[in-house]
Amino acid sequence: MARTSQRYATVAILLHWTIAAAILFMIWLGWNMDENEARYQLHKSVGITILVLTVARVIWRLLNPPPAQSDGLSSWEATTSRLVHLGFYGLMIALPLTGWLLVSTERSFDVPTVIFGMISWPDIPFPVAFHPVLEMVHGRMAWLVIFLLGLHVAGAIKHEMTSDEGVLKKMLPAITADPLEVRPTRKGSLELSFGIALGAFALIALSPVLSGPQWPVRERAPESSLQQGVVANWTVDYGGSEIRFSGRHDGDIYSGVFSDWDAQIQFDPDAPDAGKAVITIQTGSATANKKLYTDSLKAGEWFDVAVYPAATAEVFQIAEADGSYAAQLRLNVKDRSVTVPFQFTLNLMDQQAEMTGQTEIGRKSLDLGQTSDPGNDWVDDAVTISVRVSASRLD
Ligand code: HEM
Ligand code: HEM
Repeated sequence: MARTSQRYATVAILLHWTIAAAILFMIWLGWNMDENEARYQLHKSVGITILVLTVARVIWRLLNPPPAQSDGLSSWEATTSRLVHLGFYGLMIALPLTGWLLVSTERSFDVPTVIFGMISWPDIPFPVAFHPVLEMVHGRMAWLVIFLLGLHVAGAIKHEMTSDEGVLKKMLPAITADPLEVRPTRKGSLELSFGIALGAFALIALSPVLSGPQWPVRERAPESSLQQGVVANWTVDYGGSEIRFSGRHDGDIYSGVFSDWDAQIQFDPDAPDAGKAVITIQTGSATANKKLYTDSLKAGEWFDVAVYPAATAEVFQIAEADGSYAAQLRLNVKDRSVTVPFQFTLNLMDQQAEMTGQTEIGRKSLDLGQTSDPGNDWVDDAVTISVRVSASRLD
């Protein structure tokens, strides 16, 4: 018997099964990601991917209407089928959108979104008061997907078995023995639909960069009594110097550097106790081994870069014993000030010097990350600071 139905075009079939599988995975993931930051990040990444694919899919469908409904459907079945499809499209947009709004309004565990560990994803400015409602709606919509899926699959199975040509073949690639004729597509629609979806994605991802610097660059640091009194007699070779911080996050080592800092050093090896140094650090220049950490550090509860773009470190009370040095290090971060012992060694070569030193501070004492993790469940309190400075003498 001649076949009359057409099957969906390959693009529609690929998008249907990719998004269907991704949504089912996401529901499982949503229910199984408690206390697992990596899974949260994966949930957000796959969710935003579903949103982008859905935008492409909707545009593609507007340009390429689907095959006609199967003949065997009664009028209520045809209406239900249309409503289920419409409901699915609504949920494919609303689920990722409410998820995105949910993380944008989160204040107690404010971890940034970094898509697949590579692309910083901005928050949507939205009233925080909506957070509980969004959380509830987001979770309930997953149940709605399951309900619609029940109707969808039941309908597909029923009509696969009762209609002559079957309905499932319409949504399957041409791997079946006797495939239906494929529905023709409009030329250029793939490029247009994916171009718009990916263009919108790129614009959103770039929006923080396009709207200018996120924090004032090279802002003055808090004044200190030392800062006024330093008569610098060394010039630092920043290329050969490094300020590194490291510690533990969720069992893994994190480590990073500040790429923009400036040191005023007054030091005479013959009179070390008169030595002092003030280092001004641009907090926004901190880069860690994972983009998620780098983005997190800029946030309000960490360096709060928008409000406190610079921090200072002051070295004083230097004393020498057996070729190594002990000093005091005062760190002024945000509105906190903490003094810790600082050990360092000096390798003096004519007019050059190499200094290496290390110390440990507690992040709680500097009010770092105290909203999301005050109990050190994820990030250890201890942060190791290692400094290597290469400098040449001016006088
Ligand atoms: C969460 C998972 C799923 C979602 C969100 C989903 C969504 C959709 C949507 C929106 C359509 C309409 C396409 C259009 O006309 O533009 C559709 C069609 C279709 N889906 Fe699914 N689907 C899912 C899972 C499934 C499963 C598991 C099956 C297999 C039984 C299936 C079989 C079909 C078939 C056969 C059609 C074509 C129906 C027709 O033309 O009458 N889908 N699906
Ligand atoms: C189709 C896409 C998505 C599906 C199917 C989905 C599904 C789910 C499910 C089933 C849960 C568990 C809800 C509960 O425990 O009651 C959940 C939670 C969550 N989702 Fe999604 N989600 C999607 C997209 C997103 C996106 C794009 C984001 C963020 C960018 C996101 C962020 C979250 C967050 C933060 C939670 C935890 C909420 C809480 O605190 O309980 N989701 N999601």
